[in-house]
Amino acid sequence: MKLTFYGHACFGLEIDGISILLDPFISPNPLAKHIDINAIKADYILLSHGHEDHVADALYLAQKNDAIIVSNFEIVSWFSSKGHAKGHPMNIGGKKDFGAFSVKYVNAVHSSVLPDGSYGGNPGGFLIKANDKCIYFSGDTALNSDMRILGEFEKINLAILPIGDNFTMGIEDASIAAKFINCNKIIGMHFNTFTYIEIDTNYAINYFRERKQELILVEIGENLDI
Ligand code: NI
Ligand code: MN
Repeated sequence: MKLTFYGHACFGLEIDGISILLDPFISPNPLAKHIDINAIKADYILLSHGHEDHVADALYLAQKNDAIIVSNFEIVSWFSSKGHAKGHPMNIGGKKDFGAFSVKYVNAVHSSVLPDGSYGGNPGGFLIKANDKCIYFSGDTALNSDMRILGEFEKINLAILPIGDNFTMGIEDASIAAKFINCNKIIGMHFNTFTYIEIDTNYAINYFRERKQELILVEIGENLDI
């Protein structure tokens, strides 16, 4: 499984030749201006919630790649009304096997409105399972005790968590979240894109290290094997 970071909360996952893209916000992100979105492949586009900084490039990339948009019912319906009918609607607590991977849409404590003000359903995160590995992509969320359940019934190998604070968990709460889900390997997201969410990355890495957790901060455009 190969993971690529495209900035903010956007990641690509490659699983047995299948490309998954999470929360595409690339073309409006000045930190990601070296990313060529036309080179990005996506068979599936997973959207955690409706906020602009998670869906900005979703319609363009879905149409360009003829991708299936996977999200909550309201978001999938909204993209259908915008001209992209290829979607798979879900709701909190539901899972779906897509063959090469499966997805469970899990609770997030946040809000969700679409860029034109349309209702964006309830925000969520994803448990993505493939090749005996389980990745938790929390989406934008506060620390919450529902996270304990996730780690109780699944062996989570890698967690992608926001660390930018202000709109979501910050460094300290993300470290507690990692404890709740029983996972010591964390990829940080949702930091430094805007002034509201600027953090001291050295402090963050050390904070996790002191708690025997590994915080990985992937450079935008870089990938790693997981
Ligand atoms: Ni958000
Ligand atoms: Mn956000």
